[in-house]
Amino acid sequence: MQYETLIVEIKDHVAKIIVNRPDKLNALNKKARDELNQVFKELAENKEVHVIVITGAGEKAFIAGADINEFKDATAAEMYQNFRPDTIFYELNRLRKPVIAMINGYALGGGLELAMACDIRVASENAKLGQPEIKLGLIPGWGGSQRLPRLIGEGRAMWMILTGKMIDAKKGEEWGLIDFVVKKEELEEFTMSIAKQIAEMSPFTLQVGKEAVKAASQMSLRDGLELESRLFALLFSTKDKDEGVAAFLEKRKPVFKGE
Ligand code: COA
Repeated sequence: MQYETLIVEIKDHVAKIIVNRPDKLNALNKKARDELNQVFKELAENKEVHVIVITGAGEKAFIAGADINEFKDATAAEMYQNFRPDTIFYELNRLRKPVIAMINGYALGGGLELAMACDIRVASENAKLGQPEIKLGLIPGWGGSQRLPRLIGEGRAMWMILTGKMIDAKKGEEWGLIDFVVKKEELEEFTMSIAKQIAEMSPFTLQVGKEAVKAASQMSLRDGLELESRLFALLFSTKDKDEGVAAFLEKRKPVFKGE
């Protein structure tokens, strides 16, 4: 796979996507957004890939947001089209495989929104998180006003979105925006070790597990519990369940095939 704005590496069932515009702090221009949609679509179909990690190139940034240069002459009609939920992060939002955000620096605006659309967020101690759109006379447009309050509560989300102020990774962890904070030099190893642990599980069961957990923020408790019980029962039709249970009883490591 060849991309202009991304580097993609696949090893041990883990795909790592690096947004590669370090001189622009990996700001997402249209090309990068189109390529992200494309790569997520390709990785969704690639059976070798069980887990995806996304990060930014360089020392300073995960992703410093949408490319502000594109806002200068943009019309409302263009933005309405480009920023719809069914276009931005479309392929990421519909992806069934687990996605981990490896936040190695600034995660601002669309960068934080992309991280929030992922399933697990790991950040280095030096990471800075924010929704600074208000300083441009804007509000978040790629999910920030909806996902941030769900993760950290309305008041804190209101403060971040209405002041545009950044928080550090430690505060993000305290508030539930970041799941793990590690030293900068340990970020890669720590994140990839989580990815590898997940990638060893049944790829089919991983997708079902993700579906169940995602439902928690989208359904009533009653509907979510109903869904979970159906998904749990469904897994009793898989060979991977048979293999997992047999391996436990035989005291050996399971070999899952996604069947
Ligand atoms: N869009 C386009 N270009 C961006 C960008 C963005 N969101 N964020 C950073 N860049 C570019 C800068 O314009 C600069 O380019 P240049 O060297 O051609 O002038 C380069 O990346 C480096 O950024 P710089 O501002 O010089 O780094 P810094 O360390 O002084 O500041 C930030 C870092 C993150 C505080 C600052 O870049 C910033 O505020 N960026 C915008 C963040 C934002 O508002 N994001 C939400 C957009 S909706």
